[in-house]
Amino acid sequence: MINIAIDGPAGAGKSTLAKAVAKELAIHYLDTGAMYRAAAYAALKSGVDIGDEAAVARMLGSVDLKTVYAEGEQQMVLDGVNVMPYIRTPEISTAASDISALPCVRHKLVEMQREVARQYDVVLDGRDIGTFVLPDAPYKFFVTADAAERARRRHAELRAKGIDKEYNDVLDEMLQRDANDSSRTLAPLKKAEDAILIDTTHMDLDAVLKAVISILRQG
Ligand code: DC
Repeated sequence: MINIAIDGPAGAGKSTLAKAVAKELAIHYLDTGAMYRAAAYAALKSGVDIGDEAAVARMLGSVDLKTVYAEGEQQMVLDGVNVMPYIRTPEISTAASDISALPCVRHKLVEMQREVARQYDVVLDGRDIGTFVLPDAPYKFFVTADAAERARRRHAELRAKGIDKEYNDVLDEMLQRDANDSSRTLAPLKKAEDAILIDTTHMDLDAVLKAVISILRQG
């Protein structure tokens, strides 16, 4: 199976890039952030305190959380419902970052991610794909950009969805989430030593996509 790892902080453009690479190569795309978001959604919905790992573990054991592909598109299905439309709010972003620090959550979701990688040719985007989930992946990229530029993109994205938030609040939350994701003990956000670094601060998607595809085609 061809596995391509694309890691990086929030707002660096990794999911847009990963989706475009998957489309170009006609292979699957796995948004691993959506899996942590779906777990956070499940916790908030059932009123479980994310600080209480035993309660989160019990909750995870009692729900049916699956990744499925419908017409090639990833869905996160929680007890029979596709929750993809509900997990991209600022509240879920923060909760996902918090819940992703819990070992019981990471163990379960990393296993699901490895299973998808065993089954399909797939581009995975996340924080720890190259370092922890698939350390032997043949292709690894670490995509980043200046925090101000990442916040500007996220602010525009939220506005387009009708979520009105001050730019400074978006920037603060993003820095907080970066710090949270980089400082956790288990599989923190980190560039794998053998990953190719791409700084997208001054690049548009087309330029980044061309660079990545050309590296992949060189094999
Ligand atoms: O990529 P995203 O913003 O949708 O991810 C949401 C949160 O999930 C992120 O703040 C940290 C966590 N996450 C993770 O810990 N490991 C991954 N592979 C992907 C996401």
